[in-house]
Amino acid sequence: MPGVQPIKMLSQRVLRRCRWTRRAFGTERITSGLADEDRIFTNLYGRQHWGLTGALSRGDWYKTKEIILKGHEWIIKEIKDSGLRGRGGAGFPSGLKWSFMNGKKPDGRPRYLVVNADEGEPGTCKDREIMRKEPHKLVEGCLVAGRAMNASAAYIYVRGEFYNETSTLQVAIDEAYAAGLIGKNACGSGYDFDIYVHRGAGAYICGEETALIESIEGKQGKPRLKPPFPADIGLFGCPTTVANVETVAVAPTILRRGGSWFDSFGRPKNSGTKLYAISGHVNSPCTVEETMSVPLKELVEKHAGGVRGGWDNLLAIIPGGSSVPLLPKSIMDFDSLKDAQSGLGTAAVIVMDKSTDIVKAIARLASFYRHESCGQCTPCREGTGWMEKMMWRLVKGDARSEEIDMLDDLSRQIEGHTICALGDAAAWPVQVILPLRHLVVGID
Ligand SMILES: Cc1cc2nc3c(=O)[nH]c(=O)nc-3n(C[C@H](O)[C@H](O)[C@H](O)COP(=O)(O)O)c2cc1C
Ligand code: SF4
Repeated sequence: MPGVQPIKMLSQRVLRRCRWTRRAFGTERITSGLADEDRIFTNLYGRQHWGLTGALSRGDWYKTKEIILKGHEWIIKEIKDSGLRGRGGAGFPSGLKWSFMNGKKPDGRPRYLVVNADEGEPGTCKDREIMRKEPHKLVEGCLVAGRAMNASAAYIYVRGEFYNETSTLQVAIDEAYAAGLIGKNACGSGYDFDIYVHRGAGAYICGEETALIESIEGKQGKPRLKPPFPADIGLFGCPTTVANVETVAVAPTILRRGGSWFDSFGRPKNSGTKLYAISGHVNSPCTVEETMSVPLKELVEKHAGGVRGGWDNLLAIIPGGSSVPLLPKSIMDFDSLKDAQSGLGTAAVIVMDKSTDIVKAIARLASFYRHESCGQCTPCREGTGWMEKMMWRLVKGDARSEEIDMLDDLSRQIEGHTICALGDAAAWPVQVILPLRHLVVGID
């Protein structure tokens, strides 16, 4: 039937246009099924070259000079309009955060952007994909985010184990310098901007923004008390804004396509596209870009080949890296997961099927947090060790039944009583044990 195909194509085009119009006027929000044309990370699977030539062919560095010349107020406004919230875990509105340093009177100190590429959260493997396959998105992102903050340089702090990622990133930075895209008179805009890479040594706590700053300064990675906040006194005593790799890397595309485009994905206040890292008991673990607010079941079944043994074989998920509480099922965005008393965190979905010894899995997490505690605060230093010991006693069946309540009580004495959020992150997985007491072997 030769006539059928064009009509079908036309109707598809009309449908797409209507959808686009509804989105443009804010009457439709896309919460699943991200189309290829709306992907930011088009080389996530490394099918094209990650270097400058490949990046240019994907649209990176397009009209960057014009973006810079529009100035910090325009950039901040677009980022605010996009609804972008930080992708490093806490979900703080990025436009607002990036404007903090501009609110201070210049006092002669340089300002810095620090990019957090520490990615030590168990289950989280999204930023490393950006550095491996799309490093120019991050380099260009540093320039435009730096311009938004009137920063003179960016320091990218990369997790020590990411040797190959650091090499790739450094080559991309060198390419950008050689092409005049960064450095003096970046992109011919008159704006000077440098980028430095700093390698960590693999401590999870160095992902916490003030510990990270200490580490760059050559000290032990121990979180600082706040205030003062980094926007007042940060790196080398200068105003600093710390932002996650993904947060920074999506900025150039947002600025090219417009804040309202990014805001058309996800539920209100949960905007944008997002990288999800899906691991554990799924058939095809992967990192994928999808819309915010995508239902968990769709995410797992469409992109990760489903739960091993089928959806009914699902026991629990950790929706956002190990620092958020476990859940049965949910919608993947900040507010929905908060309402479910968990969190989107880094959107690293760890799937556990019914073969999982959940008590042992939580004991393993308790060991991780005990190992990674920097030891500054007593509740965290002592409490993580006690929780670890009790958890492993429960695993072995050596614990007394009252220890389950003690464990819960102990976790609540840590939560909210420490300098940084590692204490909370250590407490939350353990709190799942109380409702699961029937699963603990040898206890009533
Ligand atoms: C123990 C701990 C580890 C963290 N690790 C990371 C990390 O690896 N990467 C990251 O971007 N943020 C991490 N964060 C959050 C950062 O402190 C900070 O909030 C984030 O980098 C800000 O970026 P954003 O505004 O783009 O989200 C961690 C926080 C804590 C408490
Ligand atoms: S909560 Fe733990 S990791 Fe964070 S500062 Fe205190 S002791 Fe260090």
